[in-house]
Amino acid sequence: MTFHKLTSSSTLANLMVFPDLTEHSIAIAQEHSMSGIFIGCTEKTGMPFFLNPKDLINPHIFVAGMSGSGKTYLTKNLMIKLYAVLGNQIILIDFTGEYADFSEFAGCTRYDFSGISKVLVKKEPGILYIGLGGMRDKEKISAAINVVEEIAGFMRKRTSGKNRMLYVILDEAWKLLSLDKSFAALIREGRKYGTGIIITSQLIEDLEAGMLSNIATLFIFRIQREASLRRLETDYQLSSAYTHKVQTFGIGECLVMQLGKSGRRDAFFISGVVGLSVGTIIKVKGGVVVELEYRRLEEIITKLTKSDSSELLRKLNSEKAIGLDELIEQLIRLGANKHDILDEMRVAGFKNDDLADAFAIALNKVSFDGK
Ligand SMILES: Nc1ncnc2c1ncn2[C@@H]1O[C@H](COP(=O)(O)OP(=O)(O)O)[C@@H](O)[C@H]1O
Ligand SMILES: [Mg+2]
Repeated sequence: MTFHKLTSSSTLANLMVFPDLTEHSIAIAQEHSMSGIFIGCTEKTGMPFFLNPKDLINPHIFVAGMSGSGKTYLTKNLMIKLYAVLGNQIILIDFTGEYADFSEFAGCTRYDFSGISKVLVKKEPGILYIGLGGMRDKEKISAAINVVEEIAGFMRKRTSGKNRMLYVILDEAWKLLSLDKSFAALIREGRKYGTGIIITSQLIEDLEAGMLSNIATLFIFRIQREASLRRLETDYQLSSAYTHKVQTFGIGECLVMQLGKSGRRDAFFISGVVGLSVGTIIKVKGGVVVELEYRRLEEIITKLTKSDSSELLRKLNSEKAIGLDELIEQLIRLGANKHDILDEMRVAGFKNDDLADAFAIALNKVSFDGK
């Protein structure tokens, strides 16, 4: 085989094939619990899954899934746990400002654009928040490219080994940087210099096969786009039964695929990413429990309802939980259109089955009272 063939993207993609879904044994879960971070339990046997970057061929993580499927929720959790549990340094590049509140709650250091190496050279664990939300699009990209260049330069001066890891997080907008030399260098050379990249995307085909083979951990949340599903079937030889499952995942449910240092390949389902939430979170209980930020729920309720919703909002704020059926019932009572409720709840991530059940109960109660 020629050198070219060996490194062609299709050859590399084949190296990442996962023929069977395997779940960790108790022994492996126990071993990883000492030096990994808890993500959630596997679906079949309920085994706790600990992500253990040191055990993988590289520290990079790719998170794919459609909008609202749970990518950011996982990413926030990875960020906090990689810092607080494993004592790493984290750099969060926030293109939209979506992490601004979270970073405040989490006590992140705000970057003042005075030079990355100055901040990172202090060896303490921490999260550096780089907010680009207020900038114009062009400025954002050049600011991000500058930062990534500085990180790549700094990275090469780091020696891995006993040093803490450095993680760079880019939620969605990394595609803007994918042609940048320094970004490619972070992925290619990151392992050697103890630097990992965490990127998320709505499309799995955003990641070229060659790049994919440089990323040891993949989280696949709900995906419905045909092209993405076919890509999973061909590149990972997942059967259509599995891709069907990916298509019908609820919020937080995901498929994990990993390539270990020993050459061990794992692929298994997580029944729900278990997380820590900051800020006011309201648990909405349908068949699954969906955690919505209070502010997001407030927005939905205000948009949907015609009469005064302040009592419902007060109740949510004090109780922090509500049944999906009760929420729907209250929305109907407050004059919300049923189709609009359904649309909003779908976008918020509820499954059709759960919505159908909750609607039936809610409508029953409303019509019973009307009699
Ligand atoms: N594992 C989970 N458990 C409970 N709620 C979740 C979970 N994952 C996501 N959510 C909630 O679902 C909504 C959408 O999640 P998000 O991570 O923002 O989706 P994405 O980034 O894929 O668009 C958020 O309100 C979030 O709090
Ligand atoms: Mg997101």
